[in-house]
Amino acid sequence: LRVLSVASECVPLVKTGGLADVAGALPGALKAEGVEMRVLIPGYPAVLARTEAADTVWESPDFFGGPARLYFARHAGLELYVLEAAHLFDRPGGPYLDGGGSDWPDNDIRFGALSWMGAQIGAEGAGGWQPDLIQCHDWQAGLVPLYLKARSVDLPTVMTVHNIAFHGLMPAARMAALGLPGWAFHPGGMEFYGQVSALKAGLVYAWKVTTVSPTYARELRTPEFGGGLDGVIRARAGDVLGILNGIDEADWDPATDPHAVRFRQPRGKAKARAALLEEMGLSDGPGPLCVVVSRLTGQKGLDLLLQALPDLVARGGRLALLGSGEPPLEQAWRSAAARHEGVAVRIGYDEALAHRLIAGGDAILLPSRFEPCGLTQMYGLRYGTIPVVARTGGLADTVIDANPAALAAGVATGIQFAPVTAEALSVALDRLCDLYADTDLFAKLQRNAMRAPVGWQGSAAAYARLFREIVPTP
Ligand code: ADP
Ligand code: GLC
Repeated sequence: LRVLSVASECVPLVKTGGLADVAGALPGALKAEGVEMRVLIPGYPAVLARTEAADTVWESPDFFGGPARLYFARHAGLELYVLEAAHLFDRPGGPYLDGGGSDWPDNDIRFGALSWMGAQIGAEGAGGWQPDLIQCHDWQAGLVPLYLKARSVDLPTVMTVHNIAFHGLMPAARMAALGLPGWAFHPGGMEFYGQVSALKAGLVYAWKVTTVSPTYARELRTPEFGGGLDGVIRARAGDVLGILNGIDEADWDPATDPHAVRFRQPRGKAKARAALLEEMGLSDGPGPLCVVVSRLTGQKGLDLLLQALPDLVARGGRLALLGSGEPPLEQAWRSAAARHEGVAVRIGYDEALAHRLIAGGDAILLPSRFEPCGLTQMYGLRYGTIPVVARTGGLADTVIDANPAALAAGVATGIQFAPVTAEALSVALDRLCDLYADTDLFAKLQRNAMRAPVGWQGSAAAYARLFREIVPTP
């Protein structure tokens, strides 16, 4: 089975969040299921610099306003189609934002072009390779199913939602430049309150819709979580499936981690913990060393943690945070570190430090307001770093709360809390401190956590099953 995956970021070439991890991991995980997956990605500078064209499979002198070509390349075990179009993608800054942190004004054209190319490969193949199905990740690939429909190509498509908060809205006036069919511009199609929503188009026109956890799939049907698209999700309820993400178990392995002090048992964490305290300039205390590795945005609920911080510190807890994102949150965390002796903050993106935090922490905190899946709580599990999570989305699906029943059954792996408020978080941190004080019980939690299944096996099989279900057998 051949699947084209269309993604705006992909590890190890370009990453702003978990979407890149998933796009980069799925091809390898699906291989074992007999699925051959290739990834179509934009030719950002980092991608062009690190891939070599094995074969030019398509070119055009005028592609959405400039010359473009599509080349095939292999990199780090991945088979890639790189869309090289300097006028769209060869720019400094991130994939979506300019150096100043604002969206590129032509993001609709940039990712419309990416989606058009996905449909082109679906319709005509590329270099003799013809996909049986296209998987579209988030709004940046949301127009693929519509472009296929507009060309009357009946190819199976799966729209995968990593975050429904980003719609990919564009002015209706862009429809002409994007070559989008006018017949799809109505509330039952791609229209969203007078604009075009690329994500909505994907949700409406894809054969199936997946999201990255079963709980998020259910939450999406509600106005609270559906971001205005809950009606569309409800209308397609029978076609929506939640499949949990996995993590890269080779990359995140406490026994072989090249970035941190290695260990195999919870006991062995002590050295990693001591090293982390020292690196972050924190003194030890009677409470747990909590860590956070996160984008700093409203989604992640870290403003709630700022409010709960005095209680944690008062109980002798410590907090080490690595994050970057919205400037006001960065500033708030910098000043929290200045105010509390037990709090250390690093603003920035640092892969190696992320490993050391997760290896050395006693607990990892995710007070997310919504979390489609979340990866760092699973890194925490693998390293015996107890997740304290909001009961939402993938967090609810991957962490077993240490309630009396779970403790009695010996299956607890962490702490869940609800509602997602500073008060409830504070109570959860209190529970953490109590559990931490019971050394034997805490070690038992850690052992459970380290045994929890967090890899791709089950989920890769679930994707393969879905793909086979909708690809007609010849
Ligand atoms: P999201 O995609 O919403 O940001 P995920 O938990 O799915 O959330 O994925 C986040 C990924 O980005 C994880 O691999 C995490 O380790 C990484 N990450 C986030 N912030 C940082 C940072 N400041 N430094 C290093 N890695 C980070
Ligand atoms: C999004 C979500 C996150 C999820 C990731 C990968 O960025 O915010 O919860 O883990 O996508 O699917």
